[in-house]
Amino acid sequence: MCERACEIEAQGSRVIHLEAARPDLDAPQVVKDAALEALDAGRVHHSPNAGTATLRQEIALMLSSSNDLRYDPSTEVIVTNGANEAVLHAIMTFCNPGDEVILPVPAWPAYDTCIRLAQATPVYLPLSPADDYVLDPYEAQQLLTPRTRMIVVCTPHHPTGAVIDHRKLDQLAEALRHTRVLVLADESYSLLVYVDRRHVPVATAAGLKPRTITVGSFAKSYGMGGWCAGWLAGPKSLLEPMLRVRRLTAEAPPTFLQDAAVIAIHDTAMEQEDIRQEFSARRAAALTLIGEQDLLRCVPPAGTFYLYLTYPKTHGAGRGVHDEAPRGGTRTADPGKRPRSDRRRRPLHPRVVRESTRQCPRRHPAPDLLHTAAKRSGTPWMT
Ligand SMILES: Cc1ncc(COP(=O)(O)O)c(C=O)c1O
Repeated sequence: MCERACEIEAQGSRVIHLEAARPDLDAPQVVKDAALEALDAGRVHHSPNAGTATLRQEIALMLSSSNDLRYDPSTEVIVTNGANEAVLHAIMTFCNPGDEVILPVPAWPAYDTCIRLAQATPVYLPLSPADDYVLDPYEAQQLLTPRTRMIVVCTPHHPTGAVIDHRKLDQLAEALRHTRVLVLADESYSLLVYVDRRHVPVATAAGLKPRTITVGSFAKSYGMGGWCAGWLAGPKSLLEPMLRVRRLTAEAPPTFLQDAAVIAIHDTAMEQEDIRQEFSARRAAALTLIGEQDLLRCVPPAGTFYLYLTYPKTHGAGRGVHDEAPRGGTRTADPGKRPRSDRRRRPLHPRVVRESTRQCPRRHPAPDLLHTAAKRSGTPWMT
């Protein structure tokens, strides 16, 4: 979808980019300078496959100093080509054909794709606005079967912005206690939390660390979208097999980029806070706008840079928000893997967007797979 939108843009149309998580903020200058310096210093050769020792150390230090989560940088941290690659490796390494993966929905679409690529089965766990879209561990427990291999916990959550708290994580730990289920904790938005909420890393809950693979990204909180730098942290027993898969499939990110990522962690506290404040202000402005109309609803997001909008049924069955755009006016590209009847829509970046003058073709995926999976889980998540 992003490709199509860019094609249309290259042809001269102005496009509103809601199809990819692509905020318009620039990377901090010190990080860009560090990348240039590293290039000038000849840091243009491969690093070890798990990433440079310095960056792994820096990531481990960040986790231990901010959350008292201790990982050995030499065996329990891998630098990845973005969080995307980290998610792919975690799922491809541990999920076999026939395994089940509990996936709270709505969800970032890549989880579903990766699960299916591994020929495992996504089992959808519907998140409810009544719970502020926070995962309910008891409902997750109802979906456990002997074939369950993994549960995805994205916090702060893409696309709803929900942030899970300690109590729920303890309940999740309890629900998984006698199982072999791994937790894929995607914490790519960990620094983007607002109001009085706090990010709680999944692995800090009692009993969860040995079964948790944590994923992080430089893209969101550091203004480094497109640098494709992320990381994995977890117990050696889980990271070792992932590193074997990585060796067969990819290299670590470019060395000069990893050098810059060290500076991003180490030297950008002020810029990180500026970025958070900027998104916080946009969130507030967008919530005000939403509050001033009665077509769309949303639960105020505790984190991320999304608003997850819902469209009440009373506004015309089967017609999505996009269909409501005035003729010849603004249309948006929607990559959501949801069927026509689902009136919940992709999140809005709380940012100033440019106007589109041309209509993007809309594509609707076949809903059959989703229906089947929803039926399988016994809890249809589509309204
Ligand atoms: C929840 C989540 N995880 C991972 C990613 C991928 O991040 P990266 O750009 O570091 O690959 C995204 C990107 O939108 C995301 O929303």
